[in-house]
Amino acid sequence: MLINFEGIDGSGKSTQLTRAVAWLTSIKYDVLLTREPGGTAAGEKIRDLLLDPNSHLSGRAEYLLYSASRAQLVEEILLPHLRKPRAIALVDRYADSSTVYQGAGRELGVEEIEAVNVFVTGNLTPDLTLYLDVDYETSVARRAATGAAPDRLEQNPREFFEAVRQAYLDLCYRHPTRVKKIDARANEDEVFAQVKAAIAGHLPV
Ligand code: TYD
Repeated sequence: MLINFEGIDGSGKSTQLTRAVAWLTSIKYDVLLTREPGGTAAGEKIRDLLLDPNSHLSGRAEYLLYSASRAQLVEEILLPHLRKPRAIALVDRYADSSTVYQGAGRELGVEEIEAVNVFVTGNLTPDLTLYLDVDYETSVARRAATGAAPDRLEQNPREFFEAVRQAYLDLCYRHPTRVKKIDARANEDEVFAQVKAAIAGHLPV
């Protein structure tokens, strides 16, 4: 089973992922946690290039670099893991991030990007996608609370993030069986209760 966690920067994905790993491990699943961009040696180098505020990348170049990192992750890490018994792979972002950030945010076209994503991933589609929904103000406040300097993507203006959020909401509407919206403005425990319920509903009996 492959599950990706999605949301705008500052939605609290990392905290929820850590808790999901602990819970699934405690009920004896073989859990792999990885992230995009990155997750492999080549992918981490690509990640540095992508997040460096000094990189000047066109929208298409940016998309292809995310895709290169993703293609490597699928072959080197995800597919071998998913062949094991009781395997669950949790990914901090996957192809949906490209659909919304590059397709909508960078205006490359949501449907065009979705079509190329099928090639990039060899059609490895998540069984479940958890979209952690927060408004722009909440995401900015949470990012500020971490004290970290904004990366290249986080330096985008409000309109960029509003477009990305709207594209995530559209994704829930277009793929209602796969993509579940989680109200991530609530406190950590309440959000985790939603995360747990959504995953539990997909676990094999
Ligand atoms: P990261 O630090 O992993 O995300 P977060 O801040 O949510 O923990 O940074 C990844 C950045 O890359 C994030 O701003 C979203 C962006 N991104 C894309 O634009 N397209 C993609 O396909 C992926 C995977 C990420």
